[in-house]
Amino acid sequence: MNEFRIAAIPADGIGREVVAAGRAVLDALQAEGRFALSWEEFPWGSDYYAEHGVMMPEDGLDVLADFDAIYFGAVGWPTVPDHVSLWGLRLRICQSFDQWANVRPVTFLPGVESPLRKADGADLDWVVVRENSEGEYAGLGGRNLAARGPGGEVAVQSALFTEVGCERIMRFAFDLARTRSRRKVSSVTKSNAQQYGMVLWDDVFRRVAADYPDVATESVLVDAMAAKFVLRPEDLSVVVASNLNADILSDLGSALAGSLGLAASANLNPEGRFPSMFEPVHGSAPDIAGQGAANPVGAIGSAALMLAHLGLEAEAERIERAVAAATAQGVRTRDVGGSASTDEVTAAVVANL
Ligand code: NAI
Ligand code: MG
Repeated sequence: MNEFRIAAIPADGIGREVVAAGRAVLDALQAEGRFALSWEEFPWGSDYYAEHGVMMPEDGLDVLADFDAIYFGAVGWPTVPDHVSLWGLRLRICQSFDQWANVRPVTFLPGVESPLRKADGADLDWVVVRENSEGEYAGLGGRNLAARGPGGEVAVQSALFTEVGCERIMRFAFDLARTRSRRKVSSVTKSNAQQYGMVLWDDVFRRVAADYPDVATESVLVDAMAAKFVLRPEDLSVVVASNLNADILSDLGSALAGSLGLAASANLNPEGRFPSMFEPVHGSAPDIAGQGAANPVGAIGSAALMLAHLGLEAEAERIERAVAAATAQGVRTRDVGGSASTDEVTAAVVANL
C-alpha cells in the first residue's frame, strides 16, 4: 500500500479550522485502505512566536525535510507584524525548499454564484502558475539607506529576475498546458514600465514558447490581464506570472469564482529534492476566526492537489467531485451565500466521497 508521511502546520486563525477540515476528508478517504497517511502536526505560528520569539524552531526545516508533503493552513495574527510572520514561516519554507512553482487553479463550483454574469464552470477553468522563488518577493533591499532626517526615510525593495528562474516556471506552465483541453499559455508582463526584469521575462517567454509550437501563447500586461480576468475569462487556460503579479491575480480569480475561501494552491518543488507544500490561497481571516464560519473548500481542494502530487490522482478527483456535489446540494458557508458551518460543509464533502 502507498504510505505517506505528512506534516500538518495549521498555524493561525482559520488556518486551524480549515486544516482540520481537510484532514477529516483525507482521513475518510484513507479509511478505505488504498493509501495511508501518517500525520504529524506542528504548533508553529503566532502563538509559538509569543512563547519562543520565533515562528518555528531553528531546526524546523530539517524536521520537515523528511516528510513526503506539507499541509499548511495560514499564517498571520494581529499580535505579530505580518512581514515577520510570513517570512518567519511560510516564505521560509517555500524559499528554503525551493518550491519555485505555485499552482493555483480557479475553480467554478455548481451552486456557487459568481459575480461574473453568466459564469459557468463548464467553460471557465483556468490555472494561475506563480513564480514562487524570486521576482518581487526576493527579499532584496533595505531601509534607511540614506540619513535624510525625520520624515525622510528611504526604502528600496528590488525585484530579482533570473533567466533560470523565468525559464523553469515557463516550461512548467507549457508542460501543464499540454495536459489540459485548452493548450494555451498567457504570460503576464509589465515590460512597458519595468524595462529590466520584465523585458528579460518576455525574452525568455518567447524563447521557451518556440519549443512548444502546439501550445497557443499570448503576452498581456498585468493591468490588462486584471480586466481580462473579469471580461474574457473564457479565453484563459494557463496563466504564468511573476510572484507578486500572480499573487494578486489568483486572489482576483478566486473572488470571481465566488470567494477567496474556495481557492486551493500547491507550492511545488518539481524536482522532488524537498517536500512540496499545499495550502489554501486565503490567509488567517482574523475577522471570522473561531466562529466555525470558514469556508473549508480551498483547504480541501489543496488536500486533493496533495494527493495528486503523491500519485493518487483518482482519489484527488473523488475529493473534487465530492466538493462539487456538496456545493450543488446547497451546503455552503456564508461567504458563498449559504448558512452552513465549516463542519457541516466538511461532513457533506465526506458523505459525497
Ligand atoms: P484573508 O485571506 O485572511 O481574508 C480576506 C477576507 O476574506 C476576509 O474578510 C476573510 O474573512 C475572507 N476569507 C478568507 N478566507 C476565507 C474562508 N476560508 N472562508 C470565508 N471567508 C474567508 O486576508 P487578510 O485579511 O488580508 O489577512 C489576514 C492575515 O492573513 C494577515 O496576517 C496576512 O498576513 C495573513 N495572510 C496569510 C497568507 C498565508 O498564510 N498564505 C495569505 C494571505 C494573508
Ligand atoms: Mg495572496
